[in-house]
Amino acid sequence: MIVESLQKDKHQRLSFSSGKDSPDRFLHENAHQAAAKGLSKTYVAVGEAAETVIFGYYTVTTTHIVVGELPDAIARKLKLPKHELPASLIARLAVSENVKGRGVGSLLLMDAMRRCALVASEVGGVAIVVDALEEPTVPFYERVGFRRFELGSLRMFIPMATVQEMLGISNVHRQVG
Ligand SMILES: CC(C)(COP(=O)(O)OP(=O)(O)OC[C@H]1O[C@@H](n2cnc3c(N)ncnc32)[C@H](O)[C@@H]1OP(=O)(O)O)[C@@H](O)C(=O)NCCC(=O)NCCS
Repeated sequence: MIVESLQKDKHQRLSFSSGKDSPDRFLHENAHQAAAKGLSKTYVAVGEAAETVIFGYYTVTTTHIVVGELPDAIARKLKLPKHELPASLIARLAVSENVKGRGVGSLLLMDAMRRCALVASEVGGVAIVVDALEEPTVPFYERVGFRRFELGSLRMFIPMATVQEMLGISNVHRQVG
């Protein structure tokens, strides 16, 4: 399986179906334009044999959170200032109905987290945020360490430091040259 940037002329985005209307419509109608306008970037998982068939995708962009949104214990632990804080957003993540339950979603989630952590190591970012589409999807994110912003909320986060530690990505700036 390969994860690569969505390419309009290569990937068969119209035949992708996750069984959920909102993520399917975004891939069919908006993902390419959103990337062209600099609003977000979409990455697709394709098989190595037929690289045109999309097994799943995720869309990432930047967002901000305010420290008051975070659970008190986390905000205290991270010692964050009380203004808007930069964060990455996994705006969408969906897997084709044909390959659900075979690890594609997990692979895409880890790839998205790695990409966000690498970006944060260069430009900053305190957390990764995700909006779980519906309540049954919450455990899919909880199993890798995401937590709800508040009880009952579908908006979830994981501290960037946790992700960087988990994936062995250094937050120390490299020397240029
Ligand atoms: C949620 C989704 C991305 C999971 O993709 P997947 O490829 O089927 O997931 P995986 O095979 O990697 O499963 C990983 C684990 O999460 C669990 N899991 C998978 N889908 C789940 C779901 N919808 N709810 C809860 N747990 C789920 C699996 O049981 C598995 O756990 P296990 O390893 O202990 O058995 C996929 O079901 C999907 O596209 N759903 C529609 C869109 C959506 O809800 N997107 C998420 C919000 S943006």
